[in-house]
Amino acid sequence: MTTTVLVTGGAGYIGSHICVVLLEAGFDVVVVDNLSNSSSLAIDRVSQITGKKIAFYKADCRDKAALQGIFNTHPIDAVIHLAGLKAVGESCAFPLMYYQNNLDATFVLLEVMQQFSVKNFVFSSSATVYGDPASMPVNETFPTSATNPYGRTKLMIEEILADMVKATPDQLSVVLLRYFNPAGAHESGLIGEDPSAIPNNLMPYVTQTAIGKRECLSVFGGDYDTVDGTGVRDYIHVMDLARGHLEALNWLESDATAPCCKAVNLGTGQGYSVLEVIAAFEQASGKQVNYKIVDRRAGDVAINYADPALAKSLLGWTAEKTLDDMVTDAWRWQSQNPNGYGDA
Ligand code: NAD
Ligand code: WQD
Repeated sequence: MTTTVLVTGGAGYIGSHICVVLLEAGFDVVVVDNLSNSSSLAIDRVSQITGKKIAFYKADCRDKAALQGIFNTHPIDAVIHLAGLKAVGESCAFPLMYYQNNLDATFVLLEVMQQFSVKNFVFSSSATVYGDPASMPVNETFPTSATNPYGRTKLMIEEILADMVKATPDQLSVVLLRYFNPAGAHESGLIGEDPSAIPNNLMPYVTQTAIGKRECLSVFGGDYDTVDGTGVRDYIHVMDLARGHLEALNWLESDATAPCCKAVNLGTGQGYSVLEVIAAFEQASGKQVNYKIVDRRAGDVAINYADPALAKSLLGWTAEKTLDDMVTDAWRWQSQNPNGYGDA
């Protein structure tokens, strides 16, 4: 039975919420994170929320000796692998850095898992692996492709994992979780998204504009063929997303003998436009968001939302939280921590 889970990248936005869910479900949690895009305060806050301790290691997943030390110290039964760089634009400017970090971290981790006979693996993939889908909603049988180096690292890792499961099905079982658009924060307001630079994603840009850290939100494109001309996405509450990882672990455990490398979408199946997100945020926060409609952003698609049926049938998972929950929780986090973890 799985009792101890290693979460790589566990100090980050999504990882910290996963740690809360795992600790509340009774698992022992070990985190390795090099803090390149996060703060160890997130780990302290997770302990504050749950009343439980995390074994935290500030280390790089490419550091084999460090990982071996961690696997030697803790009886790790399963790994959730989030550690990686994630900014699309940055990956276009510094492709080598992205390939080096995201691929090498995964290689070293998989080698050490092999060495310690750890089989169950949940990988943070992304809806970006669907490239520019031909129709909506997107299901897991759709063809995959990448439009930027970041996306290519996700796709390459998915393919590498599939090859490994094929070669040694008794040694590795994988769930590839393809996230749509994570948003929101833990309802306590103690943990949330804390971008170190100017946010690329919509929700942190909205909250930072509302709090006065950014002057004006640029809405990228008002002439798409959508409900109001702005881009439509499948926003998913980060706590729902975190719960999806727990269900993936449970499924790997229950199906432990069946070799698999299974891709599963985590989304709500419901799309919202940029203007709908802004309206929901204004309603929930009572704050007005200063915005202007500008040209489309290169590489954006008009509409993207998931078919989440497989997550339901296979993992017994469905998203429960609403857009209102996402904007309310994102605002609570932002207003209680105007400078993110920098305030603590
Ligand atoms: P994040 O940057 O907050 O978390 C990633 C964490 O990994 C950070 O804490 C960072 O310090 C750490 N890290 C990076 N490289 C590392 C390395 N070599 N060794 C150890 N630690 C390392 O990002 P997030 O939004 O929480 O994303 C987590 C994962 O989910 C990433 O793999 C990302 O690609 C994936 N994902 C994110 C989104 C999104 O929109 N946020 C969507 C789809 C997939
Ligand atoms: C959402 C919508 C924008 C910012 C990205 C990555 C993807 C995945 C999730 C990791 C779009 C619009 C945004 C702004 C805006 N990440 N927008 N003004 O582009 O769907 O996906 O994050 O795997 O790989 O590409 O998310 O939050 O950037 O944009 O108008 O300042 O908001 O055009 O319609 P996206 P996003």
